[in-house]
Amino acid sequence: MHWAKSPADVELVLDDLKYVANIIAPHIETAALLYRLIAPESQLERFAAVTIDSTEQERKRIANDIHDGVGQLLHSTHYRLDAAMYASDMPESQTEIEAAKQLVIAAIAETKNTIHRLRPGVLDDLGLIAALNSLASSIRTPTVDVNLPEDYSVTMASTVETAIYRIVQEALSNIQRHASAQFASLAVHVNADADELIVAISDDGIGFDPDNITRGIGLDGMRERAELVGATLDVTSRRGHGARIVLRVPLGR
Ligand SMILES: Nc1ncnc2c1ncn2[C@@H]1O[C@H](COP(=O)(O)OP(=O)(O)O)[C@@H](O)[C@H]1O
Ligand SMILES: [Mg+2]
Repeated sequence: MHWAKSPADVELVLDDLKYVANIIAPHIETAALLYRLIAPESQLERFAAVTIDSTEQERKRIANDIHDGVGQLLHSTHYRLDAAMYASDMPESQTEIEAAKQLVIAAIAETKNTIHRLRPGVLDDLGLIAALNSLASSIRTPTVDVNLPEDYSVTMASTVETAIYRIVQEALSNIQRHASAQFASLAVHVNADADELIVAISDDGIGFDPDNITRGIGLDGMRERAELVGATLDVTSRRGHGARIVLRVPLGR
């Protein structure tokens, strides 16, 4: 890690953050690959739980490190720049200091985003349904209509809850980034007869051809996560006709 002692270090800090985020992604892919290649049938469930747990633990640790380390240093840098601004009466230095402050502000925002992506702390604090609600309300365009059970009393492994949370996060982020939708919805429903939890995310945007996607690991990652916890994921979309993602999680009650 670089230490932001002066405004000039801020870009290095940003590079560090990107570096850290890039470290995480391959772990999930490797785990999924190992799962298919080497795990005997009887150990699959345990392996999946351990893999997801250790990945999430690692993510949390990194998120906390960023928050307590780089995050705090950036805040201190910001205060120092304010002080420098008052201390200086040269217009040129003030312009430079202001530019440096804007960089620090951008770096703080970037830090927050990275922490949020790394750690679904809200899951631990509030539980699955409130966490999904908070995810949906973090999306501004389009607003996401939520339909969540009010009397939700299902208990499931935290690894499964994490998988659900991450899948919904990616689906909503895709809607925000790609769909140009007017309308989006998130619905969670417990089907007692089939003993499964159903999570559906829909939008009325531009749609896409699920069999012909050229870039991105988001949809693949969603599928891998679903597989790892024994759930199924259906992606239905057509150009011009929005998209719908349905996740079915067996509850085994
Ligand atoms: N809700 C959506 N509406 C329109 N297009 C979508 C939607 N979700 C995914 N896509 C398309 O599928 C592609 C792959 O998505 P993804 O695997 O998440 O990768 P990324 O988001 O990194 O591009 C996107 O680039 C986009 O073209
Ligand atoms: Mg994506």
